[in-house]
Amino acid sequence: MKTRAQLALVLAWTCARATFTSYPYLQNLTESSVVVRWETVTMEPALVEYGLTTAYGHSVVRTEPDTVHELVLAGLVPDTSYHYRVISGPDTSADAAFRSSAPFDRPFRFLVHGDTRTDSAAHQAVVDRMLTVAPGSALALHVGDLTENGTLAEYGTFFRIEQNLLARVASFPVPGNHELGNMDNWHRFFVLPGNERYYTARVGNAAFHAVNLYEPFTSGSQQHLWLESELQADGADSAVRHVFVWLHEPPYTTSAAHPSNFEVREHLCPLFERYGVGIVFCGHVHAYERSLVNGIQYVTTGGGGAPLHWDWLEPEPWTVFRLTCYEFVQVDVHGDTVYCQAIKPDGEVVDSFACEARKPGLGEGGSVRNLKLPAVVALPSVARGTVNLAVRTDKPGHVRLTIHDAVGRPVGKLLNQPIVPGEHFLMWSAASQPAGLYYAVLSTNHGCNAVPVVLTR
Ligand SMILES: [Fe+2]
Repeated sequence: MKTRAQLALVLAWTCARATFTSYPYLQNLTESSVVVRWETVTMEPALVEYGLTTAYGHSVVRTEPDTVHELVLAGLVPDTSYHYRVISGPDTSADAAFRSSAPFDRPFRFLVHGDTRTDSAAHQAVVDRMLTVAPGSALALHVGDLTENGTLAEYGTFFRIEQNLLARVASFPVPGNHELGNMDNWHRFFVLPGNERYYTARVGNAAFHAVNLYEPFTSGSQQHLWLESELQADGADSAVRHVFVWLHEPPYTTSAAHPSNFEVREHLCPLFERYGVGIVFCGHVHAYERSLVNGIQYVTTGGGGAPLHWDWLEPEPWTVFRLTCYEFVQVDVHGDTVYCQAIKPDGEVVDSFACEARKPGLGEGGSVRNLKLPAVVALPSVARGTVNLAVRTDKPGHVRLTIHDAVGRPVGKLLNQPIVPGEHFLMWSAASQPAGLYYAVLSTNHGCNAVPVVLTR
């Protein structure tokens, strides 16, 4: 730790005025640390001041001048809000706040978006909306195709658009096909776990695995062996209740712009099924699409700013929902339940669903089979006292229908028994519940679904 006098000397070395070419952004969030990274035009020393308030009180410094700055804030208290700012020469960044990683027993939020290249205005609109729900979020996953060709100028544009978001939420991207031409710049700009091309991150009760489709991933490859080993470790770790994967090309899509990636379907989906992966996030298709196969939600969230893909093929039996729009996905993890919302730049929620933990290591396994989603409908979806719920399933089996409040606490159980195929009608008497947002969550052995219900008074 430097004294204030020493820091003043360090900063006095600078003669020329520095300018940030990459504003400070967060990288490689771990259980107790985070990396702050930025770049300057001129050679500068680097200082990060941080603490629980804007008075800061802690600092990390690197005295050797450079244009690239990567400083580690270590020893962070879990699930705690920190303020920080960066000083390089005469330049000081604006204050920003982030939340340190959540421990096992705390809820947390993460965001997912992708395919942000080309249309800066659309990209900015998506990021601006993400910012409204970003405070306190743990991670921002990017499903690839950040820029058109990965040039320095394009990364400059990317970080200018995302600077306010990534100053507050650690970025965890995975390479897309548009990153392939310049992986040197990928490694320059990102500080990620492992080899930085495929890797694992941990937050709260979840494991996150980034899979790179642009180096070998089929059975027997190094990456396939790595992924299976990571998934086995998840299964052996009782603290891991949710497993998420993100990769660029979806194995299940009905877009007319890009076909499903059948290599992923053949070589990776069986692993996802065997080891209880809950949600696989994808991009490449510039739209939103959700497919449900063998209990796994495949969520394509490629509406980040690339030219939208408007044309669709006929829906498949595994198609749940699809919409051409700019969007991102917000994910809230509350214990064993995960709530997802796909949100447009104007704030409209175009899709929402909930999943229960799939218990890593206890997945169903076996070959891929197509399933029809069990459905739940609320009538009316905005109610004062009584909500009628219709459950529709085409398979016999055990069904649970529970009501959760907006932060995931169960507040009612309407069904927990085997039912026959067909439609079943239930009533939720909500007169004793306070006004607000609730979710009716339907869970079966074949998958789960949820609908929001708004109670008014
Ligand atoms: Fe792509």
